[in-house]
Amino acid sequence: MAARKTIAVVGATGAQGSGLVRAILSDPQGGFAARALTRDVNSAKAKKLAQLGAEVVAADVDDLESLKRAFQGAYGAFCVTFFWAHFSPERELANATNMAQAAKHAAIQHVIWSTLEDTRKWVPLSDNRMPTLMGKYKVPHLDAKGEADQVFANLGLPVTFLLTSFYWDNYIHFGMGPKKGPDGKLTITMPMGDKKLPGIAAEDIGRCAYGIFKRSREFIGKTVGIAGEHLTGAQMAASLTKALGQEVRYNDVPPEVYRGFGFPGAEDLGNMFQFKRDFNEYFCGARNLEAARALNPALLTFDAWLAQNKACIPLG
Ligand SMILES: NC(=O)c1ccc[n+]([C@@H]2O[C@H](COP(=O)([O-])OP(=O)(O)OC[C@H]3O[C@@H](n4cnc5c(N)ncnc54)[C@H](OP(=O)(O)O)[C@@H]3O)[C@@H](O)[C@H]2O)c1
Repeated sequence: MAARKTIAVVGATGAQGSGLVRAILSDPQGGFAARALTRDVNSAKAKKLAQLGAEVVAADVDDLESLKRAFQGAYGAFCVTFFWAHFSPERELANATNMAQAAKHAAIQHVIWSTLEDTRKWVPLSDNRMPTLMGKYKVPHLDAKGEADQVFANLGLPVTFLLTSFYWDNYIHFGMGPKKGPDGKLTITMPMGDKKLPGIAAEDIGRCAYGIFKRSREFIGKTVGIAGEHLTGAQMAASLTKALGQEVRYNDVPPEVYRGFGFPGAEDLGNMFQFKRDFNEYFCGARNLEAARALNPALLTFDAWLAQNKACIPLG
């Protein structure tokens, strides 16, 4: 049997990376092996991945030398940054630069960079439809990822740029689930008007990434956008109503109201939703559902995701 190609997976204990590790391990005949990168090889999540058959190695995206060691001898690398762990776009750019340099050093043959749009290409800082944040960003947690695309490209890496979508899992883990209003009715609140939000089960991001590694030659140098479905707020509320067995309403608020909600990241997310609303044709067009399903035939719709996860959604 030919030697299996090792994929080094950054964020392997997290949402995107763990989906990729599980996708690799659940296909033992696929020709790939999973190397899970974590800061703590002794954590319960890391041990679980080892039990499933992953090679678990220590690495920190703040530490270039640790990444060089962790990427050594691998065929592929899945690279992702962790904005919500520190809220710093500069740190994301520095972390992406470390991963790109480590991939170059290890002569990685296929890099997937989990990226998003640099919204400043659509909304320059001079455009006052949304406020400039942190001095030089419109949507900090998107812009630095998009800016980092050039870092991978400039190093001449064999890279695929993976444009991800809003995780439906945000309804479970990110405080975005249905909330009870003053009238006691559950609502989801997003400043999306009647526009469609591309969404995806977080697990499917890793499965799509695996599909890209399997078809490497086709995707090196390309940008691939993925989503499970494009749905309006009203459609998402209707699905939630059906799944939860109680009415969930869609509360469309102006972006400036959302930006004023005051929770950490509210301004960033308000600008993000406004970008997705105002450039909706582009944003949905860049995330083709058929292409995602071709990479990952198990791709979930929102209703299918809800059937599996509705019991985990906290109803505030
Ligand atoms: N939520 C959404 O809808 C959405 C949509 C698209 C894109 N994104 C982006 O997804 C990114 C996060 O990915 P995710 O959701 O897969 O992350 P996640 O579930 O929060 O997991 C992050 C994992 O990364 C590891 N990690 C954190 N800091 C690290 C460091 N300094 N060095 C090495 N590993 C580190 C942690 O593992 P250990 O503790 O084991 O080291 C953790 O398990 C964010 O940048 C976000 O903007 C989010």
